[in-house]
Amino acid sequence: MKMPSIPFFLSVALLASSSATAYTWPSPQYDALEKLLYEGRRLDGQSMSDLASGCKARPGGGNVAAQWLRFAFHDFATRDAAAGTGGVDASLFYELDRSDNPGSGLAAAANEYLLFASKYVSRADVVAIGAALGVTSCGGLNIPIRGGRIDATAGGPWGVPGIDQDIATHTARFATAGLNPTEMILLVACGHTLGGVHSTDFPNVVSLARGQAVLQQFDTTGTKFDLKVASEYLAGTTRNPLVVAANVTLRSDARIFNSDGGATLRSLVASSPAQALASCNNVLAKMLEGVPKETVFTETVKILPAKVIDPRLTVENGHLIFHTDLRLTQAIGTNAPSNRIVTLSWCDGRGSTANCTRTMNTARAAATSQPPSSPVGLQEGFYFNQYSFRVPISSTQSVGKFWFTVKDGSTTKTFTNGGAFYKLKQDNVIYAPRLAQSLNIGSHHHGHGLSSRSRQQVVVGIRSELSPSKVFVNSIEVANSVTELPVKSTTQLTLSQSIKPAGGYKFYSGTIHANTDGLTFDVGAIIGGITYTEDYLTPQLSTLISYTTPSVVSAFIPSV
Ligand code: HEM
Ligand SMILES: *[C@@H]1O[C@H](CO)[C@@H](O)[C@H](O)[C@H]1NC(C)=O
Ligand SMILES: *[C@@H]1O[C@H](CO)[C@@H](O)[C@H](O)[C@H]1NC(C)=O
Repeated sequence: MKMPSIPFFLSVALLASSSATAYTWPSPQYDALEKLLYEGRRLDGQSMSDLASGCKARPGGGNVAAQWLRFAFHDFATRDAAAGTGGVDASLFYELDRSDNPGSGLAAAANEYLLFASKYVSRADVVAIGAALGVTSCGGLNIPIRGGRIDATAGGPWGVPGIDQDIATHTARFATAGLNPTEMILLVACGHTLGGVHSTDFPNVVSLARGQAVLQQFDTTGTKFDLKVASEYLAGTTRNPLVVAANVTLRSDARIFNSDGGATLRSLVASSPAQALASCNNVLAKMLEGVPKETVFTETVKILPAKVIDPRLTVENGHLIFHTDLRLTQAIGTNAPSNRIVTLSWCDGRGSTANCTRTMNTARAAATSQPPSSPVGLQEGFYFNQYSFRVPISSTQSVGKFWFTVKDGSTTKTFTNGGAFYKLKQDNVIYAPRLAQSLNIGSHHHGHGLSSRSRQQVVVGIRSELSPSKVFVNSIEVANSVTELPVKSTTQLTLSQSIKPAGGYKFYSGTIHANTDGLTFDVGAIIGGITYTEDYLTPQLSTLISYTTPSVVSAFIPSV
């Protein structure tokens, strides 16, 4: 590789001055939240946003986004803002059998959500992100999302607003939840621009049609987040069942919409479509941030322009492999330059050339891919290009700090984690999923029929010269059943007789019994009294097996 020329330094300087972001790697919780919001996916790539994207109808009737949004409201609705209790805390998972929460849509949402919660993304964060993905999928604006919500471990108080309650009761309930009368009107209108009333859930409001189940939409565009619910109400053309129900007692939307003489809806309809959506956005964000007082929110989750994914060492095909991905955003309607060269550079971590003493290493990406952008990511204006590095290395050299350069023609950008560089946490303990045998046979169902427990072999490598006193896997099983608490368990691993040492590591293995759908775990070892861990893993690391040969070059560390 050629030594970088002068423009390289200039671009690095420019980059440093313009990147005043609070994010520094590693921020695993933020990374996990960012992935679910902007790629719509959990750690192993399974997509949540695909379930709702395009404002998708649920097979068998109903609209996924509408049900997700209603789920968030029912979770929020029993909040006590002054006491700092309740709100979006996933207590609804334990309340689905209550008469407060009729409708199979809420149960369907709970089953979907459960598979996307993990160590870093609470069920309640999934509820908030689901509402945001749903609203955007149907044409609403992106709702700003912070993470860090704390999950309830039991049902909360009763008291979701009912359609037969009077306006004073509704106003008081929303006030207790932290919303004033205007916000109440707005929130109901913004919620009831999607979906409608199902005859199966509210037969006293919507009747069956010739014996067939009916979904009567709140407005003529029940799968579009467009606030027709408000304009049709004001125009007197509405077919909103909670306005036109034969039984006047059940016309809760009529009472709420008219509680200020229609002033809030008139100003909503008079404003530009963009302003109207922004008004919804404000009140929806307020709902999603109505949380218990113990909550410590993350920063607002923004799309990361350059994201380093999963850097770690592993052993596969008999070699020690340095494994990392770099994900870059790309503006929709543009392509990455065809002559782009993305390079991973690193110092050795061990031996006489450690810390870039005399030499360092570089490698080109082994593969390029385009991870999906969620509806929220697309509205942000971006899709992704991801560059995957898989480099055989020696355990005597290992990996010290690393960084990336992206060369587009004559422009070079360097990504050094704001000058702190990227670093592996440790190299004594590594995760080696490709050495595991697939034991996912003989799985059986239990509990509420959701989870299917299967056996998963976990393989961990320990540097050959070390003698661990304990090697273990800590699994975090959230998706067992909607009515069960997440299960955490520790399994001890033993030195494998069948997996031969390779790449400077010896291997320990063991079997965990868990619902492998959505499973994450940490692996670790105690060596000389110190615990070393690899964090937030899935049964599969990645499917790419393609390597590039590293080049050894004269040491050059970019200054920032
Ligand atoms: C006084 C307040 C409210 C009452 C009494 C109420 C009542 C109802 C009722 C009876 C349904 C029909 C459910 C079914 O048939 O399964 C419904 C649906 C829905 N509600 Fe509300 N609601 C209220 C406030 C809200 C709020 C604030 C939101 C969201 C911000 C919301 C979002 C939804 C959505 C999206 C649906 C459609 C669900 C579907 O199509 O399956 N609601 N609501
Ligand atoms: C209207 O609904 C209320 C509340 O469910 C109920 O008590 C009342 O009997 C209903 N009226 C009629 C005429 O069905
Ligand atoms: C590399 O540098 C770090 C920090 O400057 C130091 O702690 C470490 O011992 C060095 N490693 C080697 C192998 O020289």
